[in-house]
Amino acid sequence: MQRDIEKILIPHAKIAQRVHELAEMITRDHGGAAAEVTIIPILTGAMIFAADLIRHLPMRMQIGLLAVSSYPGRSVRSQGSMVLSEQVGNLRGRHVVLIDDIVDSGGTLRLVREMINEAQPATLKTCVLLRKPTEGAKETGIDYLGFEIPDEFVVGYGLDYNDHYRNLPDIVTLKPHVLQGLANA
Ligand code: PRP
Repeated sequence: MQRDIEKILIPHAKIAQRVHELAEMITRDHGGAAAEVTIIPILTGAMIFAADLIRHLPMRMQIGLLAVSSYPGRSVRSQGSMVLSEQVGNLRGRHVVLIDDIVDSGGTLRLVREMINEAQPATLKTCVLLRKPTEGAKETGIDYLGFEIPDEFVVGYGLDYNDHYRNLPDIVTLKPHVLQGLANA
């Protein structure tokens, strides 16, 4: 895996610091340690970000799971977002925080937000680690954002290419030969 890395875009120490800051903002906005929330990571990409984030949140929480796919296999462009499975529990009257690793076209977050809103939560906030500079992403209101990144294909810290590289601790780009021939996939 290491030899496939072109450059480190965001090192893990910087991610860790930002995750801590995001957790403080979420805690403050929800009224501190006495609050109760439902956290919904959008799987699979948000798994590692969510696991780190929730350990900095001092309030009681339920965790819902939602799997959505937009970039199946070797796709580097969105193929349209599709809910693969959901196990979110009863969200009526709950304070819900959606967690995702990246917003690119914004399709995933729009779809999931609509779906969660139908369940009538008391509040719905979104926390996203990375945002690309696309029109769709800019139009997608994000309540808690980690980093703006350039329009490059990135992996690591939960993000994948063909289901690999999620376990890299840093956010990185891949060498061109790794992605070669797949730009139209
Ligand atoms: C990725 C990522 C986001 C979504 C963002 O998921 O985790 O959920 O795409 O892209 P969008 O803003 O263009 O919709 P992916 O479909 O690759 O599934 P995964 O989380 O299982 O990797």
